Amino acid sequence: MSLRALLDGLPIPILQAPMVGASPPAMALAVSQAGGMGSLAAGALAPDAIEPEVAALRAAGAAPFGVNLLMAPAARPDAASVDAALARLAPWYADLGEASPAHPNNFAPDFDAQFAALVRAAPPVASFTFSILTGEQVDALHAVGTFVVGTATNVPEARAWAEVGADGICAQGFEAGGHRGHFLAELDASLVGTMALTSLILEAVDLPVIAAGGIMNGRGVAAALALGASAAQMGTAFLLSDQTGVSAPWRKAVAGAGDDATRLTRAFTGRYARGIENRFMREMAAVQDEVPDYPIQNRLTQPLRAAAAKAGVADMISLWAGQGVRLAEPGDAGDMVRGWWREAGEASARRAARTAQAGGGGSDTLG
Ligand SMILES: Cc1cc2nc3c(=O)[nH]c(=O)nc-3n(C[C@H](O)[C@H](O)[C@H](O)COP(=O)(O)O)c2cc1C
Repeated sequence: MSLRALLDGLPIPILQAPMVGASPPAMALAVSQAGGMGSLAAGALAPDAIEPEVAALRAAGAAPFGVNLLMAPAARPDAASVDAALARLAPWYADLGEASPAHPNNFAPDFDAQFAALVRAAPPVASFTFSILTGEQVDALHAVGTFVVGTATNVPEARAWAEVGADGICAQGFEAGGHRGHFLAELDASLVGTMALTSLILEAVDLPVIAAGGIMNGRGVAAALALGASAAQMGTAFLLSDQTGVSAPWRKAVAGAGDDATRLTRAFTGRYARGIENRFMREMAAVQDEVPDYPIQNRLTQPLRAAAAKAGVADMISLWAGQGVRLAEPGDAGDMVRGWWREAGEASARRAARTAQAGGGGSDTLG
């Protein structure tokens, strides 16, 4: 069995994007049970929590499913840089009537410990973003029967994943909501749109490609498959689903988003991410290059974002969402997947009818 065979064998080639803070296990379960493939967003989980969460998903009957980890670098900032970052955030905490947090003891779960737990949990698929595994780490997952998917935002990153033995590539286009997964080049060299990126990666590596970014409905799924992707990965399209994990103000911002609602920012976390533009993004734009790298800034703004979510203040929440956000609709995640697949079939049938109508000489008219 290969990852390509697994994806080709899915009743519905739609993957629910892993989304820390937005996609609880119930979403993964609903998508897998509908015939797509759900993903557990394990990036923020303590290592000890990974095995029980994977076991619960398996026991609930999610087959197959993926588990996703964020490859955050170990962070040991000096006290002065944490002080400076907290001073920059102090007016925002004060605005909410919150005290600035103390210096955290740690900034993100330990990746090596998370990875060891993931190997023990041995899910059908494991996906990674922000960096790249070593060949030995890929081998360790293969030894327990887990397929490895690496996130790439450009062709060199896809090639690098192929070289360490990954089984597939998640091609993350510019349109995508949430953090950019770039790791080989600066942001500027990592902003390829989903359509070009999927085609370029398919040409560059002999691996199945999962297209991600801006796919919001069945027509988008049909487009991804027509490009040659083995599956479409959708995140933003699930944000209003019954199974969503987003807070009430975030949900409201998604429901009310306009046609051009999102921007990239590194002000919230120290790593560029796409979200619905709000006051924090606008007012921090001038100093966003000065904030400490992920995961430091991420950790320092966590209490702010949590307090803002509780207080219903969308202006201080990282409202991660992709460029297609205005197209997000409510509904049961499983029903949505089945509906999109129906719509993808209709779109493909329309395209086939159009091709037939053009007839044998139709292609001449394209010249
Ligand atoms: C709220 C949110 C959280 C996300 N969290 C993660 C994550 O934890 N791990 C990951 O690999 N990608 C994450 N992503 C990116 C998705 O995997 C995927 O690339 C993106 O959702 C696809 O674009 P779309 O949102 O336009 O569908 C997140 C995206 C969103 C919108």
